[in-house]
Amino acid sequence: MIRRMDAVKLDVQKLVAGYIPGHPILHGVNLKIAPGQITVVLGPNGAGKSTALRVLAGFLAAESGSVRLDGDEIVDLPTYRHIESGIALLPQGHSVFPDLTVAENIELGGWILRGDRRRLHQAVDDVFTRYPHLRDLRNKSAGSLSGGQQRTVEIARLLVSNPRVLLIDEPSVGLSPVIASQVYRELTALKAEGRTILLVDQDIRAAIRIADYIYVLNSGKNEIEGDRAAFEGDLGALVRGWLGV
Ligand SMILES: Nc1ncnc2c1ncn2[C@@H]1O[C@H](COP(=O)(O)OP(=O)(O)OP(=O)(O)O)[C@@H](O)[C@H]1O
Ligand SMILES: [Mg+2]
Repeated sequence: MIRRMDAVKLDVQKLVAGYIPGHPILHGVNLKIAPGQITVVLGPNGAGKSTALRVLAGFLAAESGSVRLDGDEIVDLPTYRHIESGIALLPQGHSVFPDLTVAENIELGGWILRGDRRRLHQAVDDVFTRYPHLRDLRNKSAGSLSGGQQRTVEIARLLVSNPRVLLIDEPSVGLSPVIASQVYRELTALKAEGRTILLVDQDIRAAIRIADYIYVLNSGKNEIEGDRAAFEGDLGALVRGWLGV
């Protein structure tokens, strides 16, 4: 049985970050990521969505601004402290190691448990219990799996550390509609366990369907925001038109 965890929130204030000092991509982004909810970030290509997720995951340093996890400032902490505090990133694009087996790929998600083989083994076993079809595939090379199976491996790897905050970057790209809808169902199930989810997506329709709250970024700045109801009406059409979809 999966127990519901105590949900945590993330507060992002005036976040400035980029790849070249003095040339920010994010120009003071503000996000309130409510505990145990699905917050969606939309925006055109190059808006800075993935950049924001990288900062929140601790992979990219901010130039200024604040990221607070349940009130604690984490913006300047090293990556491993972000992982230890329960933040996990599913990066955009493919992130399985094709030559490693499914089991090896999943074990990589247990980096913070590396000093405790028994706990790591248990955590990996829990993930296999959650995705029994992956247990059957555990000795296969990940590269030989279908796109949907590889995406499940990536999600399984993310869950080994039992994260409280999931940062998910474009989870359905390249998947068939049926498999994509399974991925969205899984995100809803993860929310039901009390996990806090920040979802970046190009599939606006699918993302809005599972969103509790939605932000639109453009050119590294907040553009519009609102709850799902606000985006299902005229505003949805407005954004879709604006994004050219
Ligand atoms: N590693 C990098 N080094 C330098 N510039 C980068 C790097 N990654 C992204 N950028 C630039 O930062 C800007 C924002 O990119 P980012 O990937 O955050 O956008 P995005 O909103 O995620 O777009 P997409 O919808 O295409 O994924 C773009 O102009 C991009 O070229
Ligand atoms: Mg991106």
